[in-house]
Amino acid sequence: MQTHKREVVSYMVSETTVPPPVPKDWSRRHLLGLEDLSAGELTTILDTAQSMRDAMASGRKKIPVLTDKTCVNLFFENSTRTRTSFALAARRLGADTVDFSASTSSLSKGETVIDTAKNIEAMGVDAVIVRHRTPGTPQLLAQNLNAAVVNAGDGPHEHPTQGLLDILTIRQRRGGIKGLTVALVGDIAHSRTARSNIWGLKTLGAHVIVCGPSTLVSPRWEELGVEYSYSLDEIVPRVDVLNLLRIQFERQTTRPFPSVREYAHLYAMNRERLARAKKDLLVLAPGPINRGVEVTPDVADGPHSAILEQVTNGLAVRMAVLWLLLGGEK
Ligand code: CP
Repeated sequence: MQTHKREVVSYMVSETTVPPPVPKDWSRRHLLGLEDLSAGELTTILDTAQSMRDAMASGRKKIPVLTDKTCVNLFFENSTRTRTSFALAARRLGADTVDFSASTSSLSKGETVIDTAKNIEAMGVDAVIVRHRTPGTPQLLAQNLNAAVVNAGDGPHEHPTQGLLDILTIRQRRGGIKGLTVALVGDIAHSRTARSNIWGLKTLGAHVIVCGPSTLVSPRWEELGVEYSYSLDEIVPRVDVLNLLRIQFERQTTRPFPSVREYAHLYAMNRERLARAKKDLLVLAPGPINRGVEVTPDVADGPHSAILEQVTNGLAVRMAVLWLLLGGEK
């Protein structure tokens, strides 16, 4: 019976074009953020990512449609998920990949980020995937390079592929985004994931709440069209999705709360809060997670959590983004 099921899935996937052709009206050369993407553009990326995900689920590891392309990972900040999945995404599509290491590069000899990127581009690179602590670095590279530029996180500004993979995970679990109430909880002030989620979710019709201590969330967030709250206990019963953001100690100049223990007492998603939530609450976390701080281990590993599905979707989203940016001329 199982063998039969697998054959049917494989047949159906092979009947569908994977990846779907890049739409004729797709005009983006770079992915710098979600702020200015239309609902149509977001849906194109999500649909393309879903087709990549379905193909992988059916056992297709390689979709070699970018065999003539080269992608470079230009990471000036640490990463596990984003760096690895962009490298895997490029390889699954048949592209060559180069992994740049800032710590062993000639940056230490005074070379600028733009000169570094231009020199790497001169070796025949088609896409530059950049993570940097300074907001705007991807925009700067996009203005100075011919290659496609993908923002893999620029300081606290945006992390568009993280926002997309979070939204894809919600869409898979809940069937759509419109009308859902999604809460982003934690270090909103320093979170690029929060900003990308806000833009993407609002454009697709969700109601967004940002929640955290008053040192990390302020009424000014209402200017972005979101609700704000200082109390996780108050919002837990009425949300459909909780996205638990890491406290980014590395970006903070002063401690925003007296102790990690107090933060966990007020904001960690735990068994007691889960008991007061909707029965089908979806729990997300972009990772890395600090177990016991934003979320207790039983919730992180429990049935409401889609944390590892997010990682799998991250690969599909990054394959979709590379295909849409580099596959248009095919
Ligand atoms: N979520 C995320 O960006 O993880 P990494 O920092 O490990 O890439």
